[in-house]
Parts: sequence; C-alpha cells; structure tokens
Amino acid sequence: MGSSELIFRGHESQSQSDDRYSPKPFPSGRWVPPPVSYLLREQRLLFVLVGMALSSLILTLSPSAAVPPAAASAGGEAIFVSRSLAVGPGVIERQQQPRRMHVAGKVPLGLRRKGLRVVVTGGAGFVGSHLVDRLMARGDSVIVVDNFFTGRKENVMHHFGNPNFELIRHDVVEPLLLEVDQIYHLACPASPVHYKFNPVKTIKTNVVGTLNMLGLAKRVGARFLLTSTSEVYGDPLQHPQVETYWGNVNPIGVRSCYDEGKRTAETLTMDYHRGAQVEVRIARIFNTYGPRMCIDDGRVVSNFVAQALRKEPMTVYGDGKQTRSFQYVSDLVEGLMRLMEGEHVGPFNLGNPGEFTMLELAKVVQDTIDPNARIEFRENTADDPHKRKPDISKAKELLGWEPKIPLRQGLPLMVSDFRKRIFGDRSSTDTAAAA
Ligand SMILES: NC(=O)c1ccc[n+]([C@@H]2O[C@H](COP(=O)([O-])OP(=O)(O)OC[C@H]3O[C@@H](n4cnc5c(N)ncnc54)[C@H](O)[C@@H]3O)[C@@H](O)[C@H]2O)c1
Repeated sequence: MGSSELIFRGHESQSQSDDRYSPKPFPSGRWVPPPVSYLLREQRLLFVLVGMALSSLILTLSPSAAVPPAAASAGGEAIFVSRSLAVGPGVIERQQQPRRMHVAGKVPLGLRRKGLRVVVTGGAGFVGSHLVDRLMARGDSVIVVDNFFTGRKENVMHHFGNPNFELIRHDVVEPLLLEVDQIYHLACPASPVHYKFNPVKTIKTNVVGTLNMLGLAKRVGARFLLTSTSEVYGDPLQHPQVETYWGNVNPIGVRSCYDEGKRTAETLTMDYHRGAQVEVRIARIFNTYGPRMCIDDGRVVSNFVAQALRKEPMTVYGDGKQTRSFQYVSDLVEGLMRLMEGEHVGPFNLGNPGEFTMLELAKVVQDTIDPNARIEFRENTADDPHKRKPDISKAKELLGWEPKIPLRQGLPLMVSDFRKRIFGDRSSTDTAAAA
C-alpha cells in the first residue's frame, strides 16, 4: 500500500477536481432541499420505489403477515384448538373485518353450512343433555364441553357416532378455542350438595369459566347465552320476582359461591356486551326437574322421588311451608332456544309460576309413587329462601314462551327414569328420550 492512499483519506486533502464523484446537474435557477436532491441523484429514487414495491409484494404473499394483531395477542382468551373444528384460514379472514354482531352464515359461497355450530358447556349434565337432544334434532353440529363433575357420558352417549356430535372433556376454567356460531354456557354444578362441595371451584367456574367462554364468543363472533339462576334474587323481598328486582343475597354465606358467582357471571356477560359488542343472552332459570337429574343431589324433587322409590321417608327442611316453582325440563329447553334465537338480551325469568309448598310437592310425589310414603321434618339449611316464584310476563311477551307441562304430568316421566336408574329396570320405556 503506497503512502499516497493514506494521505488522500483526509477531507481537506481531497482534490476539488476529484472525478470519482460527479453529481448530475440540476436545472439551474431552482433551489432543491438537500434530502430531495440526494434522492434525485443517480437514480436513487428509482431504487427506493423498487424496494418499496418488492417489500409490499413479499408482505402480501406471506401467510403469517395476514394474522391480525388481535389473533396474536389474544393472551389468555383462548389457547387450545379443537380437533376437528380447529381455527383455519376462515377465522383469519373473519378477524380482519371489524367485529360484527352475529356471524352465522358468513362463510364463502359453496361452503355454506346447513346447521349452526353450537357449543354447549355442561352439555353432559341434566339440562344440557336435553338441550343437546333438541339441537341435534334440529340438525345443528353440537360440541359438548364438560368436565363430568356432575355430568355423565350416559346422558349424551346416544349421540356417539353421529358426525354432527362431538364431546370434549374439558374444564371451562381453562381457556378453549373453537370455531362456533353459538355458545350455550351451562357448565356449573347446580345443586347445593354439589356447589358447596368445593365452593372455591364453584366460584372459579362461574367467574373464570364464564370469562373464558365470553372471550371465546368475542374472538370468534359467536352469540353467547348464560344460564343464570333465580338464586340471584337470594331470599327475595319481592314476590313474585320480576327481572328488574335486584335481589337480597348474602355475600358471605355458604351459598354465596353459587349465588354471587352467578351474579358476577351476569355482570361479566353484560360488560362484554356493552364493552366488546358480544351478542349475549341471559336466562334466569327457576327450579327445573325431569329425567337425567342427578339422583340424591339434594334438590327437593329428586330427593323426594328417590326417597319415595326406595321406601325411605321424604325429608322436608324447616316447616315445609317454603314455596318453590317447578318447571319441566322440556319447557326450559324451549325457553333457552327461543331466547338464543330471539333479539332480546334479557335477563329473562324461565320458570313455572305454579307455586307449591314443600308439603304440597310431597303430596304430589305420594300420589305419583306411593300413597304411604312418609314425611320426616329436619332443621332448615342456612340461607334457604322462603319463597321463590317467577314473574314470566317478560318471557311471555318478548319470547312468546310459557311452560306447558304441569307438575302432575311431568313428574311421572321423571319417576320412570329414576326407577330405571335406581333399580336397573330396563323394561321401562325411555321416557327421557320421549320427553
Ligand atoms: N336445574 C335447575 O333447576 C337450574 C336452576 C337454575 C339454574 N340452573 C343452571 O343451569 C345450568 C345446568 O344445570 P343442571 O341442572 O343441568 O346442572 P348439572 O349439574 O346437571 O349440569 C352441570 C354440568 O356442568 C358440568 N360442569 C360443572 N363444572 C364444570 C367445569 N368447571 N367445566 C366443565 N364442565 C363443568 C357438569 O359436569 C355438568 O355436566 C347450570 O349453570 C345451573 O346453574 C339450573
């Protein structure tokens, strides 16, 4: 290397007449700012434009680039993917659009589905399994999500093998991602015996489980229905209970994990509706009975029926003068489906306004099963509401719904199912299916 090369690195040393750098002349008489003049020199502008065109082309063709930020940052809302209904390109396409209200039918032409894709959480339970039967009969694709805490595979196994039916063992406290149009959220133990068994788990199911399902509804644009309860009215000071009544609930009692859990679930549902435009529906269910109820679950109808069948005394808590209304399960399912398909958010009371004291109920059970069945009085449990009767004017007017099956007609259907399950009487007709 010669010494001259070292010398010529200095700016001062560079000759003014160095011809290695010769900018193109610009039209004289017009001042051009230095950055623009830099761009215009030596076809740099052309290179910049070609570079921009190339990078846009690469971004358009790359599949990962189409994933919207929402899908990447859904953090905690949904992480698992179902086996057969896993999220595919369709979801990506749908998530790029502004959040819309109800998505059913928004699929490309030629791929149009016949029925809806519906998730029923708690679908292996008492109410859930009857709802699944109706949805399957309608031709929907149904996915049951259940952890089998109180639900049983036997309740839905008659659908096994049907391509429209899927059963996923899953706890709703954990997030789940499914591509569906409607979510019926029933997962929660409903009888005092079960919800008091693990109160922390009960409130987690109501709060975290409902959050997860609302997150799913928001993410895939599904309509969400919450099965709340008449327990949100607590020990009511208003009778019968109208939806506008705010209730009288003990926040620290042994039933609070359920009552307050459901109240919070209602709050979350409305907040997702107002804040995230999720389409929601809220049903406040009153005492329901029918085939497939858990035997010995502490609920009064199943208790009386099981006890009378086993020739045990029917246990009445307190003086037996507290009242309840009893709705047959097929009436409830009809109400839930009308609510889901209708245009009203609710909440709606779904129950049978026919009011019975515990002693009157015991009499109906005696008449149906055994006139000699005995009654035994026990001390009442804490926070047991004295009166409960729905005002169903709102459901009548806006959903065109009211219960049809009176207690004396519905009870024999349940008795037949219980007899079969307690005594293994296979000769009985399957009233569960018939109902
Ligand atoms: N049956 C009634 O009289 C009544 C009254 C008011 C409200 N409800 C509501 O209706 C819904 C269904 O009640 P039901 O009578 O069928 O009760 P159920 O106990 O028979 O059914 C509940 C189902 O949810 C499942 N489940 C519970 N926790 C779960 C979890 N963490 N993850 C996944 N699955 C879970 C259970 O295994 C069961 O299959 C409940 O939300 C309940 O609060 C029922």
